Amino acid sequence: MITIKNEKAVDLAKKGRILSGMRPTGRLHLGNYAGALENWVELQKDFENYHLVADWHVLTTKPGETDVILGNTIDMVIDWLGAGLDPDQSPMFIQSNIKEHSELHLLFSMLVTTSRLERNPAVKEQVKDLGLEETMSYGHLGYPVLQAADILIYKANFVPVGEDQAPHVELTREIARRFNTIYDEVFPVPDIKLTKFSRLPGLDGQRMSKSVGNVILLTEDPESIKQKLRKAVTDPQKIRMGDPGHPEVCLVFNLHEKFNPGEVEAIEPECRSGKLGCVACKDNLTNKLIEFLEPFRKNREYYENRKDDIIDIIKDGDKRAREVVSATMDDVHKAMKFG
Ligand code: TRP
Repeated sequence: MITIKNEKAVDLAKKGRILSGMRPTGRLHLGNYAGALENWVELQKDFENYHLVADWHVLTTKPGETDVILGNTIDMVIDWLGAGLDPDQSPMFIQSNIKEHSELHLLFSMLVTTSRLERNPAVKEQVKDLGLEETMSYGHLGYPVLQAADILIYKANFVPVGEDQAPHVELTREIARRFNTIYDEVFPVPDIKLTKFSRLPGLDGQRMSKSVGNVILLTEDPESIKQKLRKAVTDPQKIRMGDPGHPEVCLVFNLHEKFNPGEVEAIEPECRSGKLGCVACKDNLTNKLIEFLEPFRKNREYYENRKDDIIDIIKDGDKRAREVVSATMDDVHKAMKFG
């Protein structure tokens, strides 16, 4: 049993509040880390962080697959801890345990037009990718409205997420302004916080994403990291050792920039001149990644038989989240003069 200190509910010395979250899709990958998680860990010292497991959001695309949600939640929270999120400083909680999110979602749904939602580029992309032209659900179209409720119910000032989430944060800002104009000043207008590597390439050069199947997991074992990198595409014009390379088009180089920053200056000219071959370059990256990911593997081993500890961490997070949302909903009801 882990003991969690509770006295930090509101720390006035901090520079503002952060809310961010992820859908529980199971174990996380390097793209999730570089796009958002790393930032969460970095920011928790200076900001009051809240992190949600967006389980209702899973229903937008997979309403029938509820039996895997709890397992995926635990797997994901284990990776959050492996990255260094500290449950004392950063409460972690489950969206569906905090029912007020759904009330605020309903109220917000009256403040946004359907055509505005249809124009959301993230939604448009999904309609195209998943062929949803005729079959998109009402709840799926409202995905970003629920996300706005997630963010604003904590009166967050900043939302650290990957670049793909920018359209949702933009809509959140519009909804906050609209609520404040119609009723009363309740919500801050939050800013997005991107990382430098908010769009990490996967093993095929496209954005790293589980649905594409081009990921390296944070808990990938060393042999599998080696195999995956061996098969990764590099500069298509660099076929054999000695050919000059173009690091700017090479995903292996991009991963060096992120995970081997100390050597990129040396690697770049050697790749360009042809002196450095892709096999050696990949071996070097493999070793760096194995080393970098070691703490994630250790952390998973530790929690593999201590899943009750994860449940305790979430229960504590739920409790702390509830304190904040009930105060916000009081403000909302007062501003709207009913509810
Ligand atoms: N849409 C986010 C994702 O797919 C998950 C999410 C839901 C979220 N609510 C949020 C992210 C609130 C940031 C803030 O990863």
